[in-house]
Amino acid sequence: MFDPKKSATEASQYLLSKCKPPSVAVVLGSGLGAFGDTLSDCITIPYEEIPYFEPSHVKGHAGSLKVGYLPSSNTRVAAFCGRSHLYEGLSVEQIAHPTRTFSFWVGKAIVFTNAAGGINPQYTPGDLMLIQDHINLTGRNPLVGAHNNSLGARFIDMTHAYDEEIQALIQQSAASNNTKIQRGVYLSLLGPSYETPAEVRSYKVLGADAVGMSTVLEVIAARQVGLRVGGISCITNMAAGISVELLSHDEVKETASRVKSTFIELLTESLKRIAAS
Ligand code: HPA
Repeated sequence: MFDPKKSATEASQYLLSKCKPPSVAVVLGSGLGAFGDTLSDCITIPYEEIPYFEPSHVKGHAGSLKVGYLPSSNTRVAAFCGRSHLYEGLSVEQIAHPTRTFSFWVGKAIVFTNAAGGINPQYTPGDLMLIQDHINLTGRNPLVGAHNNSLGARFIDMTHAYDEEIQALIQQSAASNNTKIQRGVYLSLLGPSYETPAEVRSYKVLGADAVGMSTVLEVIAARQVGLRVGGISCITNMAAGISVELLSHDEVKETASRVKSTFIELLTESLKRIAAS
């Protein structure tokens, strides 16, 4: 049985033995791992070495934790390059484990990034979207099961899941980089099949602007342990039926790679401001 508290404590102790904890972390989604390569004085810890971490099995996802400095800055950050997904057959505890580990390692704020399909017709592939709120349609929740009060409350408020100050800092960073940024609601599903056009139409009615297969469970775990949360989606494609294009994971990776430098610049500026806040 996976004990969330015990495993996160063990993993964080392992990380403490490797390096001093940074206060800010980022989780890099599909095709977005290149940010990790920009860190200087960086140590790389493969997920296989960290207790209870899952190696990444998805193409476009590395599987390592990088800890280093933002370019030309004394801000130290942790970059989780690659993440686990429910569709790999993993448990919610395994998906929440890196987030809980970061909190036990004395982290304060975490920015989740992902690749997503655009539902809002104003979006175009390559847009970046500041996540304002989410809809969890995975049917799962990492807080289900025996409750351990030392992880946080059983019933947590999700009204301000995405920290408003962090949202403002990301928005200001985009403005100072001259980068257009959309704002919207991210809806998450189990996957791994993409959605049907009828499903996408129904998610639009629910109020979703973008759809993907990650992030929401990690955000719930982060809020339980009191981490401040930010989120950025890279709109890699329009969701099924919104455009005539068919969907493929190759397109997701290609678009993520096309916006790589804009994304890296936005993340660098945002993390600098979040660490200073
Ligand atoms: N749907 C679900 N997940 C995704 C998509 C999508 O269109 N694009 C990238 N991840």
